[in-house]
Amino acid sequence: MQENHTPHSNAGPDWSQGTGQRLYRHAKSRIPGGTQLLSKRPEMFLPEFWPAYYQKAIGAEVWDLDGNRFLDFTHNGTGSCLLGYADPDVNAAVKAVNDTGSMATLNAPEEVELADLLCELHPWAEMVRYARSGGEAMAIAVRLARAVRGRDKIAFCGYHGWSDWYLAANLAESSALDGHLLPGLSPRGVPRVLQKTALAFRYNDLAGLEHIMEENKDQVAAIVMEPIRSEMPQAHFLEGVRSLADKHSAVLVMDEITSGFRLAAGGAHLVLGVTPDLAVFAKGISNGYPMAVIIGRSVCMNAAQETFVSSTYWTERIGPAAALATIKKHRRVGLQELLAEGGARVREIWTRAAGKTDIKITISGMAPLPAFAFDHPEALALKTLFTQKLLERGFLGSTSVYLTYAHTPTLLDQYESALISVFSEISDVIKDRSQSIESQLKGPVAHSGFSRLA
Ligand SMILES: Cc1ncc(COP(=O)(O)O)c(C=O)c1O
Repeated sequence: MQENHTPHSNAGPDWSQGTGQRLYRHAKSRIPGGTQLLSKRPEMFLPEFWPAYYQKAIGAEVWDLDGNRFLDFTHNGTGSCLLGYADPDVNAAVKAVNDTGSMATLNAPEEVELADLLCELHPWAEMVRYARSGGEAMAIAVRLARAVRGRDKIAFCGYHGWSDWYLAANLAESSALDGHLLPGLSPRGVPRVLQKTALAFRYNDLAGLEHIMEENKDQVAAIVMEPIRSEMPQAHFLEGVRSLADKHSAVLVMDEITSGFRLAAGGAHLVLGVTPDLAVFAKGISNGYPMAVIIGRSVCMNAAQETFVSSTYWTERIGPAAALATIKKHRRVGLQELLAEGGARVREIWTRAAGKTDIKITISGMAPLPAFAFDHPEALALKTLFTQKLLERGFLGSTSVYLTYAHTPTLLDQYESALISVFSEISDVIKDRSQSIESQLKGPVAHSGFSRLA
């Protein structure tokens, strides 16, 4: 991995008065929800104290609006920058495209080169379409599946974005009961007629999926899932899903928006031994530049000729240029191995720090995307305190780390020292029964996000 970082220093200013928090307070009156992505709301990390905005992000380093420098040991652009922020090779490709026109009446030839490359990486796939974000690409995949099968229902597991087809799962018999299946994802505004069109099953629950397929014979257009997320697939689970899709003539759609390009140069399904009919990639494929792809067998992809799927900005040139540069570098440096090594190191750091300080945690997640949870009745307050203490030490930190190429062994060493001292202070707080965990927080407890039904 790269070694181009200087040591960091952060004393401990009053972050609540920082330019970022002031701007965010104003943003909430102008932008409903303050940001465009739930997971980027400062309340998800450290309410009232998270730096909120950045002026510069390079490698694994982020500078806030007041010039404070942090090492990013959280989501690294919500998982979109596998090579690290502002990767020089990807940026060079994007600059070249900018200088020669990122948009024109004619089409971008990079679209065809990228389609060939994606089909080479995924030999089962014959055709490719493009979009620019994960949720919309999933909506396209579901539309194609419905069009090709002439059926309405979708069996799904996991999170797949903001679209109506997916949020329909949260429509109950009455609006008062809405939102129970996927807490935190409100379906308000989704037509009630879509009720019972999105049918949920849990990862590794083959019997649950089989039940759905039998109960809805000849009505399920697609089975939609991530090939892997927080749990490893149990033996024969993915093969079982493939067989059920075949038995019931349903399109198998693998959502590789987060798993893609983390375990392999391509979809995680390549190493997990399951072959879908459609696969969807977005963040992860183009190192932070908007891009999304749907790849698949031509029988499914050709449905795009029979249903209207078309948008101007799906034709711009930066996305495919960035994706080509990202994939080429991924292959050149053997990125999946580096991410796996970084992930193993982070797990080791957590395990060692927890053992030393007698804090109980449970670690989960795929190799390059480890996560942990505090095994404690006040887990959310502890998580908030963890973030607060890491921030004081110059780290953007939470209980999951999306490893990138920029997380060098040197930076991992720095993270380890910070983490051991943070865990040791947290252990003192847990042991001291004279004070509550919340009393140690400078602001409110973090918000808890949404449930993925994984
Ligand atoms: C598995 C999965 N599907 C879909 C999405 C939605 O993608 P986007 O946020 O680009 O719309 C995400 C984003 O977190 C995801 O992880």
